[in-house]
Amino acid sequence: VRRLLVQAYLDLFCLSQEKLRQVSGQLKKDMVRGLGKHTHHKAPVKMLPSFVRATPDGTEKGDFLALDLGGTNFRVLHVRVVEDLQKVLKMDSQICAIPKEMMLGTGQQLFDHIAKCLSDFLVSQDLKGQTLPLGFTFSFPCEQKEIDKSILIRWTKGFNCSGVEGEDVVKLLKEAIHRRGDFDIGSVAMVNDTVGTMMSCGYRDQSCEIGMIIGTGTNACYMEEMKNVKRVEGEDGRMCINTEWGGFGDDGSLRGIQTEFDLEVDKTSINPGVHTFEKMISGMYLGEIVRLLLLKLTEDKLLFEGQTSETLRTPESFLTKFISELSEEGKQPILSQLNLKWNEVDAHVVRLVCDTVSSRSARLCAAALAAIANHMRVSRKLDRLKTTVGVDGTVYRKHPNFSEELQETVRLLAPKCDITFLVSEDGSGKGAAMVTAVAQRLALQSR
Ligand code: BG6
Ligand code: GLC
Repeated sequence: VRRLLVQAYLDLFCLSQEKLRQVSGQLKKDMVRGLGKHTHHKAPVKMLPSFVRATPDGTEKGDFLALDLGGTNFRVLHVRVVEDLQKVLKMDSQICAIPKEMMLGTGQQLFDHIAKCLSDFLVSQDLKGQTLPLGFTFSFPCEQKEIDKSILIRWTKGFNCSGVEGEDVVKLLKEAIHRRGDFDIGSVAMVNDTVGTMMSCGYRDQSCEIGMIIGTGTNACYMEEMKNVKRVEGEDGRMCINTEWGGFGDDGSLRGIQTEFDLEVDKTSINPGVHTFEKMISGMYLGEIVRLLLLKLTEDKLLFEGQTSETLRTPESFLTKFISELSEEGKQPILSQLNLKWNEVDAHVVRLVCDTVSSRSARLCAAALAAIANHMRVSRKLDRLKTTVGVDGTVYRKHPNFSEELQETVRLLAPKCDITFLVSEDGSGKGAAMVTAVAQRLALQSR
């Protein structure tokens, strides 16, 4: 009986192939809405033009600075692009902590801090006198007007700094640098992390035309035909579109598959109603879904002899990384850290819960990726599409079965697409430098 009662909860998270197909189909419709000139304002999936019109061709070169904000770590990098397809060299990089209060403070404090980190880095690299171009990987939804003008639509994940939404991020960065007055930067290229990831894989594999992140947040970008990008003038060639698929479902379209636990995670987040799809998938929320489910099972006396612990009742105490670490050796330290009295059956159920929640995440990502791949195949009028996806993010990298399950499910949902997956190395740093370099090459060519 206990098994059946536990299973009844887990079944809420098990999505059939048919359901996944519906999710994929709905996303495809929402993508078209997001691309439309007159429909994009209200679209939950924003489909943001990135002004990246080409992937690397191997002739790019030069020294660049890069900033990477919005994932687990804020980093400053010095990158050298050598005129040879195989060579993008990371010269050095520095992680610079952003205190939690600053993530919720004023925009000015945040940008002053970024400028200080950049200044310290330049000193440590002996680069202070130089004015280098800078690629800024800023992993939040931005309305780009050009490659160097990028207006924050809204914060997502754990950030909520005042005075930044609706403002041009490049302007805020430059103002902070000028307030200091001790160094300057050259031209700036703004890049979403998905775009950086795609570009950084693009110099290794020129058929890399999709970038995907499954980390703190989740999102993907892909190369779209210009004729479909109704919001930007021009019919020829392609442009990279940042889908912001995290917002999928914000109009209620995923209500049928959200569980009571998803609704609770949304309600207690700092941005209720925003980024519904992301909250069912990404690292910032998976641990919390598991915690709520464990709490419910315990209250129903199906776990830990009905005894919860103060720790388990504390929000965010079940870290997403526990899901990946709950192996035979991992269970003892994790369950003890949660102050739970457990036996082998409890440990087995906890593992089942973790597997179920992460498996749903992988399968939902697969449905979303299949929507993109199918859409690319049809709009390019191909019988088969052969393409590469550049991927990054701790959930994808660290979870033992995640990538396998995702890939298997995509194959089922996009049978006419041959998709290769490439884990990005230093994606956003090198990718941002690549975007800056490609932008320079195109500017020179059009002179
Ligand atoms: C990093 C990239 O490696 O992965 C970031 O450099 C990106 O730009 C991040 O945001 C995503 O993963 P996570 O797990 O750190 O959010
Ligand atoms: C969030 C952001 C998006 C980013 C993703 C992955 O969804 O809105 O811009 O790409 O997280 O970091």
